[in-house]
Amino acid sequence: MTTGTTQSAESEFTNSNLEVLFSEDDISSRVRELGTQITADYAGKDLVLVSVLKGSCVFLADLMRVIDLKLTIDFMSVSSYKDGMKSTGDVEILKDLSNSIRGKDVLVVEDIIDTGLTLSRLLDILGSRGANSIKLASFLDKPEPRIKTELAIDYFGFECPNKFVVGYGLDAAGRYRNLPFIAVVKDPSAV
Ligand code: IMP
Ligand code: MG
Repeated sequence: MTTGTTQSAESEFTNSNLEVLFSEDDISSRVRELGTQITADYAGKDLVLVSVLKGSCVFLADLMRVIDLKLTIDFMSVSSYKDGMKSTGDVEILKDLSNSIRGKDVLVVEDIIDTGLTLSRLLDILGSRGANSIKLASFLDKPEPRIKTELAIDYFGFECPNKFVVGYGLDAAGRYRNLPFIAVVKDPSAV
């Protein structure tokens, strides 16, 4: 136990390399709207929220608490193969779902859709498992780098400029997932 002196820590949330893009208030009111819409759309269905780890865990936690329906949750973890900095679209399943989705109405919950390569491959994989329906909810939609232009995002929180963003589950080399807002990293080389 330490006595007397406390270690001074620099604030992570007011870090000078961050510029807030969507505030905590912006996020909570938007997520509430999505919850209302999803509650209406899935009334009477057998809803499973499938969260893609790790980035979507914060969005999932908020979204599930504003969907006023009987539902279950499950998790998947995938790694995208990258060719240098570019996503190749090949994905490896690191953690699969715990339960079958046969006959269920699946809503995949993602943090951000960028090129769309990872998600379209994931939707192909899930598409062969006999679900009644599969739709996609992404907290952010970053349309500019999209390669899979045919990918339909059924629900999204905000459209995101073509900049590297962090917070609300999104990371830069593992850092910043705990920010309660979305921020642009001003100098990515300083992460
Ligand atoms: P893609 O759609 O296959 O290009 O990959 C999307 C994934 O890349 C997301 O699930 C995030 O993990 C990551 N990603 C894309 N853009 C950003 C960003 O601006 N900040 C943090 N992660 C990002
Ligand atoms: Mg992700």
